[in-house]
Amino acid sequence: MPHNTAPRSLFHTLCRYLLAGLVTGLSHTATAAPGDENAITGHFGDHLSVVDKPAEALIAQGKMLFIARFTSADGAGRPAATQAAVPTKRRIDPSRAFFRTSGPDSNGCISCHMQPLPGGAGDFALNVFTTDGFVDADFDSMDPQFSNERGTTHLFGSGLVELLAREMTVDLHRLRDQAAQTARKTGKSVTIDLLTKGVSFGRLTVSAGGFLDISQVAGIDPDLVLRPFSQKGVFVSLREFSVNASNHHHGMQAVERFGSRWTGETDHDADGRTAELSEGDMTAMVAFQAALPAPTRTADLSPDWQAAADRGEQLFDQLDCSSCHRRSLPLNNLVFSEPGPFNGAGNLRASETTPVTIDLKKLPGFAALKRDEEGRYLVPLFSDLKRHTISDGDIGHYRNELLGQRFADRDQFLSGRLWGVGSTGPWGHRGDLTTLREAIQAHGGEGHAARNGFQALPPPDQKALIAFLQTLVIQ
Ligand code: HEC
Ligand code: HEC
Repeated sequence: MPHNTAPRSLFHTLCRYLLAGLVTGLSHTATAAPGDENAITGHFGDHLSVVDKPAEALIAQGKMLFIARFTSADGAGRPAATQAAVPTKRRIDPSRAFFRTSGPDSNGCISCHMQPLPGGAGDFALNVFTTDGFVDADFDSMDPQFSNERGTTHLFGSGLVELLAREMTVDLHRLRDQAAQTARKTGKSVTIDLLTKGVSFGRLTVSAGGFLDISQVAGIDPDLVLRPFSQKGVFVSLREFSVNASNHHHGMQAVERFGSRWTGETDHDADGRTAELSEGDMTAMVAFQAALPAPTRTADLSPDWQAAADRGEQLFDQLDCSSCHRRSLPLNNLVFSEPGPFNGAGNLRASETTPVTIDLKKLPGFAALKRDEEGRYLVPLFSDLKRHTISDGDIGHYRNELLGQRFADRDQFLSGRLWGVGSTGPWGHRGDLTTLREAIQAHGGEGHAARNGFQALPPPDQKALIAFLQTLVIQ
């Protein structure tokens, strides 16, 4: 039986659908005037004007923006600007509205994030060609020397992911500051384990004079800010990613980065439209994504599926898959505040405004989160949110990228978050593996031993492990 038809009762399906419908259904209520060709049916104002809006209103506006197919009447297209995250003028022929490589490459977020529901993943045809460069941002080739090609990931549970990352960053900064204080007081250098939520990011040494030795820091940037977004793990927040994505994919420029504060222009991309996405619109777009419920497990499995999935789950631990794909990470607080505290310049920052708060536990789809004995919410993401070297000289599939991204090593990627992995094929960061078996067999580097463990299993056990992964679904 194919995994996406693993049996579940009609009642169960209906309940999930009703709960999730608030955020994942395809329709929205606002209507356009006759003959009007805007996809955006109404804008919010600046961030402060939305601070008091109820979560439902923010999510509804964000959903409208996420499922809109932007038109030139909305400001889609960027004749004079490139896709680069840093506002940059374009050099190639501005009359080409769409460009599959350097973008604009599509009409709306759901052009790609659609499988199996809005906010979901995408197949190989929806891959994105991503590059850091802004001087050479215009490229018309898929050759890997110009861009890194990535498959579309799903966004379910991403509010929880951002909250986990924020708490882990706070922990790591606290450890660093305490070490610095001790070193100063004692006049001796101090070495600490960078451990947060049970995940080790190596060691840090602080000298009595306050110098940091970062040579043993692992899987995170040296500033100890955990950036959980993109498969490389180089973007700090949904907001930062969404401001980038809106410009890159659609030529929809957010005022907070492309407006007059940073560019000195109100129409940086020279498409005749200003204020294409306001601060309030971006806050809403983030609210929608943050409210997407966590993926779940297929319920009501038939006895043969249940037996296989149970066996596979045991093997997942026995083979040490869960050393990187941590079954869950504990989260103290379910209140999502936007904008977040670690945004860089060019994104609205918590320090410059009053954040909106959304209590995720009041939203549908979050009630099922289990809690540990300390009352913390266990987020079942199957990842440690840490970058690992995942290829080596023998097994090189995941070593296909030639360009570094934001100074992260080319052969390192975040441990894939396996929640939802049963609904999101094809797999691997380039979306070029059509089976879960291949995605496992492609693990080299730090994952080589676990991969060899999988290879050594008898065939029925290999299938059981895959069956377990197939039950981790978005529904
Ligand atoms: C052309 C396809 C495409 C479109 C359109 C698109 N995305 Fe994406 N999205 C991707 C790909 C590919 C990735 C994975 C990027 C990576 O790993 O570097 C991604 C990743 C993301 C992530 C990070 C998820 C994670 O867990 O790391 C967010 C957030 C996101 N997209 C939001 C948006 C928003 C908001 C829009 C609309 C403004 C949008 N995307 C439009 C393809 C697309
Ligand atoms: C050393 C850490 C590590 C270990 C151990 C590990 N993985 Fe992974 N896994 C990763 C990383 C990193 C990726 C992302 C690879 C990429 O696409 O660049 C990944 C990706 C995956 C994917 C693809 C996810 C997707 O959405 O495309 C699957 C499936 C997977 N791992 C399953 C397993 C299984 C099963 C095991 C045990 C046999 C295992 N992994 C052991 C780190 C690890």
